[in-house]
Amino acid sequence: MSKLPQVGTTIFTVMSKLANDHNAINLSQGFPNFPVDDKLTSILAKKATEDVHQYMPMPGSPALRIEIASMINKVYKRVVHPDSELLITAGATQAIFTAIMALVKEGDEVIVLDPAYDCYDPTIRLSGGTPIHVPLNDSYQPDWEKINAACNEKTRMIVTNNPHNPSGRMWNASDFDALESLMSKNERLLWLSDEVYEFITFESEHISAHHHPNLYARSIITSSFGKTFHITGWKMGYMIAPEALMIEIKKVHQFNVFCVNSVAQSVLTDYLPQVDVTQLGAFYQQKRDLFASLMKESRFELLPCDGTYFQLADYSAISDESDVDFCQRLTTEFGVAAIPVSVFNDPPIDRKHIRFCFAKDDETLIKATEKLCKI
Ligand SMILES: Cc1ncc(COP(=O)(O)O)c(C=O)c1O
Repeated sequence: MSKLPQVGTTIFTVMSKLANDHNAINLSQGFPNFPVDDKLTSILAKKATEDVHQYMPMPGSPALRIEIASMINKVYKRVVHPDSELLITAGATQAIFTAIMALVKEGDEVIVLDPAYDCYDPTIRLSGGTPIHVPLNDSYQPDWEKINAACNEKTRMIVTNNPHNPSGRMWNASDFDALESLMSKNERLLWLSDEVYEFITFESEHISAHHHPNLYARSIITSSFGKTFHITGWKMGYMIAPEALMIEIKKVHQFNVFCVNSVAQSVLTDYLPQVDVTQLGAFYQQKRDLFASLMKESRFELLPCDGTYFQLADYSAISDESDVDFCQRLTTEFGVAAIPVSVFNDPPIDRKHIRFCFAKDDETLIKATEKLCKI
């Protein structure tokens, strides 16, 4: 009997295959198609000949943890203890899996805000918990009335993602006030704040869980070097949690992976002090703006995008097909692959919105938008 009967092939695999089969421009899956920083690749080449090929300590390289703590201190003015509050993981996916496995038990409920990244729900189910899907409102912002109503004595965790994939929206200060109030009323509640796009933010300032000391004792933050340094294939990330929770999280981590890739950890240790992560927003803002200006002539309506490298588009002026059918036709007939947003919802909600990834070189964005403007 399957432990995850409802899980099939993910939409990212389906759309990327369809894009390949039809030679379409792939704006579906969220990965950059431009080269990574030369500095990073030359450190990698140098490290290959050094003594960096054996197991690292279980929580990750001590030097890398110090560098991450220092970056967090610079960006958020928060002091994180590298030994007790930081864990290096195989991407944010493993951080999320490990945190949920360690902290959610049979009978617990976990609030997930839809549309939601696809790894939350199955991980909660594998832990024995029950995912409670609460839809975001039509502007893809939290609906606090619904979230409050969904909370009860069984609720163990709320998983949030800010900046948000797929919508590109960010939370504002009043959302955090509402979360603080919810957590003060529900003492068992933990907050898993998935912040993999923390440095890809535009006009408005990103408010992080790091800015909320009142909640540190109950918050787990996940992030991804894949997103920050255009190295999604490295599968490197990290998690910050208070020591009491981290003790439990490490118990799972050590039998899940024990430790993660030593070469990547050693390269990132040298690279981190040489880069300014606060410049990433400006880099992607140019891409967002280029994509938006090239799409002006199209019949798609672009939705607000505060962060991430995703742009939602409303296609209701073009078609009343379901978003899944529309994305398939977009790929097979028009040569551009996108992701239907309904599949991030359980049950699916079809708002006639599709997601484009603009983490692509300018040439790709120009070619894709030429096709999109002809529809
Ligand atoms: C919201 C969100 N969380 C987590 C992840 C996983 O990150 P990683 O590739 O570091 O495992 C992604 C990747 O697309 C994501 O969009």
